[in-house]
Amino acid sequence: MNRTINVGLLGLGTVGSGTAKILLGQSGLLEQRTGTRIRLSKICDLDITTSRGFSIPTEILTNDVRSLLDDPDLDIFIELIGGIEPARTFLLEAIQKGKHVVTANKALLATHGHEIFSAAAEYGVEVGFEASVGGGIPVLKAVKEGLVANQFHTIMGIMNGTANYILTRMTDEAMAFQDVLAEAQSLGYAEADPTYDIEGIDTAHKLVIIATLAFGKLIDFSDVYIEGISRISPLDISFTKEFGYRIKLLAIARDTDSGLELRVHPTMIPSRHPLAQVDGAYNAFQLVGDSVGNVLLCGLGAGQMPTGSAVVADVVDIARNLVKGTTGRVQALGLPCDALVPLKKSPMDSLVGRYYFRFSAVNRPGVLARISGILGDLDISIASVVQKGHGEEPSVPIVMLTHRANEARVRQALKEIDALDVISGRTMVIRIEDLQTLKEGV
Ligand code: HSE
Repeated sequence: MNRTINVGLLGLGTVGSGTAKILLGQSGLLEQRTGTRIRLSKICDLDITTSRGFSIPTEILTNDVRSLLDDPDLDIFIELIGGIEPARTFLLEAIQKGKHVVTANKALLATHGHEIFSAAAEYGVEVGFEASVGGGIPVLKAVKEGLVANQFHTIMGIMNGTANYILTRMTDEAMAFQDVLAEAQSLGYAEADPTYDIEGIDTAHKLVIIATLAFGKLIDFSDVYIEGISRISPLDISFTKEFGYRIKLLAIARDTDSGLELRVHPTMIPSRHPLAQVDGAYNAFQLVGDSVGNVLLCGLGAGQMPTGSAVVADVVDIARNLVKGTTGRVQALGLPCDALVPLKKSPMDSLVGRYYFRFSAVNRPGVLARISGILGDLDISIASVVQKGHGEEPSVPIVMLTHRANEARVRQALKEIDALDVISGRTMVIRIEDLQTLKEGV
């Protein structure tokens, strides 16, 4: 006779509610697909009285986490409270008690992942974390399993639904940043602290996780160069459009001769590239492997039900293993924890690429010559220049696109230019990725 798999859920917020809704509402479908009963036996939250908009049997609700951690019959412990503590302590305790764990906690895994994965390996339990990256998109499973035969060259993508939603609305509706942010929060996309979404921190957490799996390296959160979208103005959006580009908050992990590039920043990409068409709360990943070539995965990267879908998929994976009397068939990281090798990181200063500059300059003869003089001295070649304004304003935007240039030289040039008396504000810089279409490769 098939055994029942007992699942305990900690955290009935946005993702927790989606997970509970699926586990309770689709139990018949899950049983039909797995041949096993997956029973949500306990849900723990500090607030068990507010309605979540669907029916939850009151006898499974508790606000005592001990009744999950101390339950010897609980097979799987799902942590969806987010944040570092007490999530870390609860997860480690569940692991030490031999429970398999599932989490969507990217901040925790990106900063304390090694501790969690090592403990799980020591106690012989599984850690499912598909929901931590890409919401409903099964991208970690793709990296660990479907694409296991590949050495990855690049993993790149749009990994934050809130930031993408904001940039999309700013582009399509010419809306103000703050209004769009409020909208995204009301749709349940944003983190508890939206700074994480806007300043690229959440994206960087996800990049650490996926790059660890794809490149098999020990990657620390501090290894990632991070820039957010809060300085992007409607002016940048409209200039970018004019040049045939879109601005996306991209996460990029690329294997280069100087090491692994790990960076998160607003990026101009050609509007014809598939990633430029990924709008709203959608996330997308471009995975480039030596055998498979380009793979593009796209789907909702945030929200209650898409993220719940990924959490339940992890629960099902574990349940299927348990029924067959096995665990760890696919290691959490797709390779043994102790097989991770030290990271050789490519320094940002050695990056070479094209750049967008928006100078705020006084409108008078000779200004352009002074700017281009500094750029020329540092071997930065200008590809195009646009200036808007009628000559009456105290300062006008001058936009330049460069040919390929070195990041360290670009920084030096901007330091010198921003110190000129004819420059009235900090120059806006956006890196350009001249991605070719998927067919041509990256
Ligand atoms: N705040 C995240 C986002 C949720 O906007 O993508 C999913 O991790």
